[in-house]
Amino acid sequence: MAQPIVLTKPSLSSKEKKYLLQALEAPLQHRHWAGDGPFTRKCTALLEKRLDANKVLLTTSATHALDLAALLLNLGVGDEVIVPSFAFSSTVNCFMLTGAKPVFVDIREDTLNIDEALIEENITRRTRAIIPIHYAGVSCNMKRINAIAKAHKLMVVEDAAQAVNARYQDRFLGTIGDLGIYSFHESKNYSCGEGGALVINNRRFEERAEILREKGTNRSKYFRGEVNKYTWVDIGSSYLPSDLLAAILYAQLERLSAIQRRRKFLYRRYEQNLSMLAQGGKLRLPTIPPDCQSNYHIFYILLSTEKVRNNLMNILKSQGILAVFHYIPLHLSPMGIKLGYQKGDLRRTEEFSGRLLRLPLYPDLTTKQQDLVIRSIQRFFRQ
Ligand SMILES: Cc1ncc(COP(=O)(O)O)c(C=O)c1O
Repeated sequence: MAQPIVLTKPSLSSKEKKYLLQALEAPLQHRHWAGDGPFTRKCTALLEKRLDANKVLLTTSATHALDLAALLLNLGVGDEVIVPSFAFSSTVNCFMLTGAKPVFVDIREDTLNIDEALIEENITRRTRAIIPIHYAGVSCNMKRINAIAKAHKLMVVEDAAQAVNARYQDRFLGTIGDLGIYSFHESKNYSCGEGGALVINNRRFEERAEILREKGTNRSKYFRGEVNKYTWVDIGSSYLPSDLLAAILYAQLERLSAIQRRRKFLYRRYEQNLSMLAQGGKLRLPTIPPDCQSNYHIFYILLSTEKVRNNLMNILKSQGILAVFHYIPLHLSPMGIKLGYQKGDLRRTEEFSGRLLRLPLYPDLTTKQQDLVIRSIQRFFRQ
């Protein structure tokens, strides 16, 4: 059998190694392996400039950026947050850790993002925040979501873990709500293995976010020369990635556009080559609404039933092609059941998560490998 075709892998240029060695081997007086060193500053400046973001703080993961967001919102027992169930555990765990309760809302048919039309009926006097997830790098309806949040005095935390460098209208995802989060995990478009960022759009969170991220101290102020010693001023933990990881990330971020261009090329190739099957009603291709610009993070197809999806997934696997489902709905996971949810509660989430198949997509995927994936899918429907 030919080399297996994986689902996703980060793309490597010569720069990752160069910058990593620069950080690692810096002369003693400039050696900075801890967080918030020169490469962290470069990453932050690049992200703030390119994504037109007010303030970005690098974190050890998107999960930790979400933890910071939940702490900043000062949530506690009795509070509720509105989230899609078609989501990753981190998006909900961060709020559960504060004692708050997730209220799951169904998704839209086209983008599989939270259905903004269902949000208001789920708002109670305990609701504190809305957490839209931009699935696959395609935006939620942020105009409507921000309007609902404003009308009900709620905070908006955008889970843009998958959506770095994607846009809604003229703004970058992650910069539209009060807070945004990004992931730089190995599976994402830009990666340093494990990493993330908190984007602070609502300035009232700026000062406390720095403190919570730095073990509850005002060390960031001290480094900027704003105080003459630093001390313990609040609760917090350690959410800073090492500057060695930031060195790798900087090399990736320098190729922000090039990586996205390659992903777009492969995404469009899937679309073109599978369009006949879509026209014949065998499968559905992903939708990108006109006011959204994707970062082409995920390419998926929707099959007619869960059984067809599983058959195709297993056939591809037997041919060394890794295509996977995404996600098990949170409301039907063991934790979701403990929260009182049951099958049938969120019809679209249950239906689409059963029919979705994610295909291999990463910059180093060759067109030859992609053709193998496409041909296998075409053959499956001919049989
Ligand atoms: C929507 C979403 N949120 C959060 C995360 C967590 O990201 P990380 O692995 O950087 O903690 C992921 C990871 O896949 C995700 O897809």
